[in-house]
Amino acid sequence: MQVRIYKDAATVAKAAAAVFADEITKKDGCVIGLATGSTPVPTYQELIRLNKEGVVDFSKVISYNLDEYVGLAPDHPCSYRRFMNEQLFDHINIDKANTHVPDGLKCNTAEYEEMIHQAGGVDLQLLGIGTDGHIGFNEPADEFVYPTNVVKLTEGTRKDNARFFNSLDEVPTSAISMGIGTIMSARRILMIITGKNKADTVVAALKGPVVPQMPASILRMHQNVLVLLDEDAASKL
Ligand code: GLP
Repeated sequence: MQVRIYKDAATVAKAAAAVFADEITKKDGCVIGLATGSTPVPTYQELIRLNKEGVVDFSKVISYNLDEYVGLAPDHPCSYRRFMNEQLFDHINIDKANTHVPDGLKCNTAEYEEMIHQAGGVDLQLLGIGTDGHIGFNEPADEFVYPTNVVKLTEGTRKDNARFFNSLDEVPTSAISMGIGTIMSARRILMIITGKNKADTVVAALKGPVVPQMPASILRMHQNVLVLLDEDAASKL
């Protein structure tokens, strides 16, 4: 695992976008794994800029998102499909038919796993992290869950994500998520973490034991992971 520390979230975003630009340019039909949450938004803005400037061409890119809330239709204002359209897909030259987000109504776990497999696997997977160490929506648990699965969200995660909804009551109680195995199968992983509120999580994930109670710790068993932190997130390392 390689860890790089940058001054702030904006420089992390520039660095992350450069990694994506490089990977997409290197491989025709590159398969990328994408994430939601606030952290990747500046990276997506950078990628939109690079696309508009003609530096990155998304026309042959295939994407798979990590997760989706159970019970939310793709066009629900708080769905991750809608988030991805608004934050990235609507602004770049990607073919929407090549973009995939798990279906929160059908909960198509096995089909989603198979689709990724049929596409040849993920070349570069982007990850954020929850304050409890979750990746995708793989919450702390007694065991790592490997395939794409339906996960019960912790109250902490629901509270963290309530800011995207009108009230905590509206936050779904479960989600469909790529599993730990699905994520670990990506050939390369790029994790971005910014902000002081993640500083303790960073220490636990990067320095603590590799245990399912801290899901992100498993990334240290992957042979090609790059972690980009801002100084706030790295402040307790
Ligand atoms: C959600 C997503 C995760 C993301 C996390 C952190 O729970 N499922 O993929 O990493 O939020 O979000 P934020 O970047 O807003 O802190």
